Amino acid sequence: MKRNIVITGGAGFIGSHVVRLFVNKYPEYNIINLDKLTYAGNLANLKDIEDKPNYKFVKMDICDFEAFYQLMQDEKIDGIIHLAAESHVDRSIKDPFTFAKTNVMGTLALLQAAKLYWESLPEKYDGKRFYHISTDEVYGALSMNHPEGIEPPFKTAASSEGHKAYGDDFFYETTKYNPHSPYSASKASSDHFVRAYHDTYGMPTIVTNCSNNYGPYQFPEKLIPLFINNIRNRKPLPVYGKGENVRDWLYVEDHARAIDTIFHEGRINETYNIGGFNEWKNIDLIKVMIKTVDKILGNPEGHSLDLITYVTDRLGHDARYAIDSTKLQKELGWEPSLQFEEGIEKTVRWYLDNQEWMDNITSGEYEKYYQDMYKGR
Ligand code: NAD
Ligand code: DAU
Repeated sequence: MKRNIVITGGAGFIGSHVVRLFVNKYPEYNIINLDKLTYAGNLANLKDIEDKPNYKFVKMDICDFEAFYQLMQDEKIDGIIHLAAESHVDRSIKDPFTFAKTNVMGTLALLQAAKLYWESLPEKYDGKRFYHISTDEVYGALSMNHPEGIEPPFKTAASSEGHKAYGDDFFYETTKYNPHSPYSASKASSDHFVRAYHDTYGMPTIVTNCSNNYGPYQFPEKLIPLFINNIRNRKPLPVYGKGENVRDWLYVEDHARAIDTIFHEGRINETYNIGGFNEWKNIDLIKVMIKTVDKILGNPEGHSLDLITYVTDRLGHDARYAIDSTKLQKELGWEPSLQFEEGIEKTVRWYLDNQEWMDNITSGEYEKYYQDMYKGR
């Protein structure tokens, strides 16, 4: 079946993996990558598919309601997969307005344009889909009541060897929203708007909330690519606080596969949590990265441990995230595919092999941002 799908934020980290998957898997679809190309958008992420006949890039701001409404009509859009956002928590602490504008007002502009266009068609919402990609951070922070770790109630192919849980509770689809950072507050607000468009106008919406992603093409302000690059360049590794915070890591291609499954088979007006049951304390994860980079670069074991530098904690730093993705696994049969140690090794190798991609980013404006971010820490 032919479909006309807009993927917003397709030049970013997760979006580029989703675009690549859809363009390669569905040659009969018309895939439009809509992206403003902020500092985080990079068309180099899509070099391998940019000439495919079913792919088109459109440079547009999601806040531009008029332009998006026109695009909906011109391209007869029947599916929207919405990833465009300001995504970095530290930036949201410095500049919350940009987050409210893009994440809240931008999402609202897309919803309203889709509503006007789809309601103007004879079949209205039939066969349409507005799929909003969100984060587990909207649920707030979980307790760390088992700081040494316990045998976890869940395990998947993505769980690391000796996998542990650091508390008894998890984020479920029914967990009450309790966002703490300006980033998560803006994402929570956008989630509410998406659901409001279903409840008020009957728009066929889906929301998913995913845990931390890692893998190729992630902007090096985020923990994993930043630290891999710093280890390679013998630069300090700025660990926030004591490094005890816990995140639940999922390989980005597994997230993209989940998005594909949910876009096609997910139930309307449902929420699905996406995660790998793969909790890590930051400091333990950092040691795995050091070990992996040192091994690949041929350094003696422990060579780069001296780069670990404890710095002032992130304001309002959430203690622990851990997703229960049982609903998605049971209902739609999705499973993460990659075991964490394999995923990290693959990721480290990708960044070390794609130094040009990294240097193109870190040599420009970003270097100044990075210096400012850690000034006085
Ligand atoms: P990213 O920062 O790497 O990419 C964001 C993309 O959105 C960039 O290409 C940027 O140019 C584009 N963009 C930003 N503002 C825009 C605007 N006004 N108009 C059009 N395009 C704009 O982000 P990411 O890490 O790939 O995250 C993608 C989505 O997934 C976000 O909605 C994020 O909240 C969500 N998410 C991310 C993670 C994660 O671990 N990275 C986990 C769960 C959910
Ligand atoms: O949970 C999903 C979220 O994961 C997404 O919604 C966000 O878009 C994404 O950025 C990510 O948020 P985090 O804040 O968890 O990711 P980040 O890579 O910034 O940080 C991961 C952990 O590492 C966090 O506890 C903070 C810590 N950290 C981060 C950086 C950049 C450090 O200790 N030092 C650092 O320099």
